[in-house]
Amino acid sequence: MSKPVVGIIMGSQSDLKIMKEAAEFLEEMSIPFELTVVSAHRTPQRMADYANAARGRGLKVIVAGAGGAAHLPGMVASFTTLPVIGVPIKSSNSIDGWDSVLSILQMPAGVPVATVALNGARNAGILAAQILSTENKSLAKKLQSFKTNLRKKVEQSFRSIEKKGWKES
Ligand code: RP5
Repeated sequence: MSKPVVGIIMGSQSDLKIMKEAAEFLEEMSIPFELTVVSAHRTPQRMADYANAARGRGLKVIVAGAGGAAHLPGMVASFTTLPVIGVPIKSSNSIDGWDSVLSILQMPAGVPVATVALNGARNAGILAAQILSTENKSLAKKLQSFKTNLRKKVEQSFRSIEKKGWKES
């Protein structure tokens, strides 16, 4: 098996139901990845070790998901120069999701986290693939056909609505 180039991490196993969507997209694109639980608050040393070792182990992008006081993506970004994509999760301890979004989004200048939408793990997987595709022509081609399919689906839907009318579609 090839060495993972994307590290998917999350604050709790309870985040997996959302974060698996990032894994599924990477699998669709045949991008090797690893997936594990790293908690900023409950395993801070593991988080620091993971982030510090990530580049040396061959990872190129980190996708980090967390909910509530969602410090994992930002703290991982503080330890590494790899791009970090943050996934805010509407978790059991999240008030309404805004807490997760703002905890990940509002990073201080100098330490960016590319924050996707609430529960937007699939987009995080897509963005990770797009970052990797800058140096990988065959992956760029796969992403192009993925985008073409998105366009075709919308074309099908507007053709159907325009042909049958909105009541029948
Ligand atoms: C966060 O707290 C985790 O990322 C998770 O979203 C949330 C709840 O964690 P559990 O109580 O389910 O372990 O740190």
